[in-house]
Amino acid sequence: MKAIAVLDEKRGIGKNGGLLFSLPEDMKFFREKTAGKVVVMGRKTLESFPGGRPLKNRVNVVLTSDKTPREGCVLADSLSSLREILKEYQSENVFVLGGAKVYEELLPYCDEAFLTMVFADGGADSFFPPLGENFTLAEESEEKKSGDLRFRFTTYKNKSPLIL
Ligand SMILES: NC(=O)c1ccc[n+]([C@@H]2O[C@H](COP(=O)([O-])OP(=O)(O)OC[C@H]3O[C@@H](n4cnc5c(N)ncnc54)[C@H](OP(=O)(O)O)[C@@H]3O)[C@@H](O)[C@H]2O)c1
Repeated sequence: MKAIAVLDEKRGIGKNGGLLFSLPEDMKFFREKTAGKVVVMGRKTLESFPGGRPLKNRVNVVLTSDKTPREGCVLADSLSSLREILKEYQSENVFVLGGAKVYEELLPYCDEAFLTMVFADGGADSFFPPLGENFTLAEESEEKKSGDLRFRFTTYKNKSPLIL
């Protein structure tokens, strides 16, 4: 599986339950990468989407201890139930969308991380976990600009991902 996230210069990813930045080019990158794929997210990230609704054109798998069915979502109440759900999909088609809690749990299982690095401090209250020494930078784009924000697309590869 793969992680996809936008990070600020302090590894911040969110504030008050929402995102730190609005970057149209990154949204486009995100849509293109994940269209038609399986996306795995925490309950709080689902609730941060417009209307708390799942993303269109993707299989939305939501980690939560709450067993109440949610329209358009496949619910997983543990990593072992997630493992069962993901059995029917190719792991290269599975994207971990966050948030902080879910990145922390699933990053060791990701063979790649697509990280959009924003050169700013967004004043975050939730953070991406440290990548650790297994992840190395494989690719990075040139620096891009959106309004006053400068950012870069990067790809990190994990040399020894765990098997879920
Ligand atoms: N910058 C980015 O790329 C990015 C991407 C995504 C999210 N975000 C931001 O990240 C923040 C949210 O992150 P967060 O850490 O607070 O929340 P989160 O990871 O989205 O969701 C946490 C919730 O997921 C459920 N969960 C997680 N692991 C589980 C497990 N093993 N078994 C069962 N349930 C599990 C629990 O739900 P229950 O409480 O229902 O049991 C837990 O409270 C927001 O600010 C959001 O905007 C940023």
